[in-house]
Amino acid sequence: MSTTPVAPVTDYAAEFAGKTALVTGSASGIGLATARRLGRGGANVVIADFNEQGAKEAAETLVSEGIKAAAVALDVTKPASVEAAVQFAVDTFGGLDLAVNNAGIGGPSTPTGAYDIDAYDRVIRTNLDGVFYSMRYELPVIEAAATGGAIVNVASILGSVGFAGSPAYVAAKHGVVGLTKTAAAEYSAKGIRVNAVGPGFIDTPLLKEMDKAAYDGLVSLHPAGRLGQSEEVAELIVFLLSDRASFIAGSYHLVDGAYTAV
Ligand SMILES: NC(=O)c1ccc[n+]([C@@H]2O[C@H](COP(=O)([O-])OP(=O)(O)OC[C@H]3O[C@@H](n4cnc5c(N)ncnc54)[C@H](O)[C@@H]3O)[C@@H](O)[C@H]2O)c1
Repeated sequence: MSTTPVAPVTDYAAEFAGKTALVTGSASGIGLATARRLGRGGANVVIADFNEQGAKEAAETLVSEGIKAAAVALDVTKPASVEAAVQFAVDTFGGLDLAVNNAGIGGPSTPTGAYDIDAYDRVIRTNLDGVFYSMRYELPVIEAAATGGAIVNVASILGSVGFAGSPAYVAAKHGVVGLTKTAAAEYSAKGIRVNAVGPGFIDTPLLKEMDKAAYDGLVSLHPAGRLGQSEEVAELIVFLLSDRASFIAGSYHLVDGAYTAV
């Protein structure tokens, strides 16, 4: 029997020192909170987002906080754009060790029998194909870095349960969990850990179009009695990316205020 001892981390402020992380969809919400938390841990962070101006502003804010951050425009629905963002990380910081595939959209709320076909395609392209394209270009570069890198894909509680009115989103997030398990099966032996997280409803701009009644309805679904905060999801993502999670691979971790417990 052999065991690999893991050195206890004593300095969380430096646990990602010298590592480069790419966070997709990090101009706001969960992505931005994760990029900030990684940067505070010493990582170089690439803020990659469809919202180019938002990405620039987010990177400037992080730099003003003492974080090594750079922004790049990214559309995860376009393989060439994803490839270019990964190359940007390499050109700017010398490599890629960590990735958080977080970019996503909500889509309309309509029953399956009336769901707009174009909207379905858009949600699947962004939330599912975008995660595949991201891993497709990240994994070879992370493997080449040979630093025992890690990837976290941002799914949702809706990667394990359904939600009326959101067929495309639910299908995409279930797919993200499957992509995660497959990549972990392929890359764990190479020291690259791939995991997924399943946030409950989180108070971010993604929910901005919701009226108060709908918002309160969502709150009532969480036994915790509130929605989550981006920073609470970021803590889980960052833990999974860290060496503290050295034997956690191929799994899907909820952060949902007990939403799926009832
Ligand atoms: N907010 C929630 O309740 C919640 C719950 C579970 C999971 N999630 C997931 O968390 C992730 C982040 O969402 P958020 O709540 O922080 O929302 P958000 O809207 O604040 O952030 C999403 C970011 O993704 C970017 N983006 C959208 N399409 C893109 C594309 N094609 N290419 C690149 N970037 C793109 C947006 O510009 C935005 O900055 C999403 O995958 C979402 O599905 C959110």
